[in-house]
Amino acid sequence: MERTYLMIKPDGVQRNLIGEVVSRFEKKGFTLVGAKLMTVTKETAETHYAEHKERPFFGELVDFITSGPVFAMVWEGENVISTARTMMGATNPAEAAPGTIRGDYGVQVAMNVIHGSDSTESAKREIGIFFEDAELNNYEKVV
Ligand code: CMP
Repeated sequence: MERTYLMIKPDGVQRNLIGEVVSRFEKKGFTLVGAKLMTVTKETAETHYAEHKERPFFGELVDFITSGPVFAMVWEGENVISTARTMMGATNPAEAAPGTIRGDYGVQVAMNVIHGSDSTESAKREIGIFFEDAELNNYEKVV
């Protein structure tokens, strides 16, 4: 079954949106297999966002993601990578459709509430950056 890495950014945590965001993915029918509130180190942030290293906003991006706790999650389900991206909305909240997480809760591109893996390769890489295998729960639903 497909897995993705989703991360509620410091703005989402501080605006008390953890429950709202988690609820959306639960109600959609996806399965939470790992989650933790954590403060990202500069080194981990630079590794996670390595593809943006040459972008002018890279420093700002790393500073922001390390500025306060994030809520790191791994979700599982059919097509969860692309469906989660659809549910998140466009990267720039100003362009994100109403009904999406960023469209409903975001205002600025730097503070866009949530990050989600954009491909199977990214998901595998990002899950490995933020979680040990033992932190991920494999279980069959009994209800
Ligand atoms: P995310 O999905 O976490 O992946 C890279 C992030 O870079 C993106 O969300 C945005 O939050 C951020 N980003 C993109 N463009 C800009 C920008 N022009 N200024 C600051 N941050 C940006």
